[in-house]
Amino acid sequence: MTGTYPHTRLRRTRATAWSRALHRETVLTPADLIWPLFITEGEGVEQPIAALPGVSRWSVDLIVERAKEAVDLGIPVLALFPHTQPERRSEDGAEALNPDNLMCRAIRAIKAELGDRIGLLTDVALDPYTSHGQDGLIDDAGYVLNDKTVEALVGQSLNQANAGADIIAPSDMMDGRIAAIRDALEDAGHINVQIMSYAAKYASAFYGPFRDAVGSRGLLKGDKKTYQMDPANTEEALREVEMDLAEGADTVMVKPGLPYLDIIRRVKDTFEVPVFAYQVSGEYAMIEHAVAAGAADRDAMVLETLTAFKRAGASGVLTYHAPHAARLLRG
Ligand code: PBG
Repeated sequence: MTGTYPHTRLRRTRATAWSRALHRETVLTPADLIWPLFITEGEGVEQPIAALPGVSRWSVDLIVERAKEAVDLGIPVLALFPHTQPERRSEDGAEALNPDNLMCRAIRAIKAELGDRIGLLTDVALDPYTSHGQDGLIDDAGYVLNDKTVEALVGQSLNQANAGADIIAPSDMMDGRIAAIRDALEDAGHINVQIMSYAAKYASAFYGPFRDAVGSRGLLKGDKKTYQMDPANTEEALREVEMDLAEGADTVMVKPGLPYLDIIRRVKDTFEVPVFAYQVSGEYAMIEHAVAAGAADRDAMVLETLTAFKRAGASGVLTYHAPHAARLLRG
């Protein structure tokens, strides 16, 4: 046979569903998902979040129900975020250290019901607790002070670990916090509490709906560019990851998700450690608004984007679509 026909037909293996299934390189399962949940005060309370259509804040009793739902769906981990009452916010975010704050009560309630049947990842940063909405302690000019903030974050981490958190996830981007938190956890005997560092976290336009969800949007003055990374940078992301691993992070995260798949891939290839991606609130909202406008098929978009993270090298994904995706994957 010369010339007339292609000998190699890549379409051959794509021709049928069974063959596509056989040749699929990347497999997504519910165990790849981490479900972020927002907690609010009260009992029997569900508060829909307008900026995140389909996502609600739940009171502690109903968060426990969501945790049971996650177990039933095969989702291994929840990421918890508190919506702190405005009167409990302060300049120094001291509520983060209160052993009876919303976060700690939610952790204890879930663990009392489910124990190790679910993992709990808790965000470490002061923004849900500060009156100015920054992730750390500020000076008179509004600059976030690194070393003082790290001291507060250590206290916040211990507070969460004492309540029963399984994975401490610092999202604050201060320098040196991983080592400080690891030392404190070891000293306190929390040797098996993991640290998933938000190692490469960018100063992104995609966090808007989240700031509504935790109630810090109206409070935040200025931006977070003196600590979160410039979206233009890659080398710096590798240095951030290298430092956090050297300081004792078990796993690292890249955030946001889809616009930063290249960073996930470079981190994975460079360090060969578990890398997680956060498909953030703005990404979720883009999909939901496109679906509402009749411009997109939700199920297909959810599975395609989540598969893309795994293809890029992620071990798992934090996504507000987690329960929906898990249902789709379980058929
Ligand atoms: C707080 C924090 C943020 C997110 C997770 N932890 C917001 C921010 O840095 O302003 C964003 C998550 C999302 O947008 O879904 N440090």
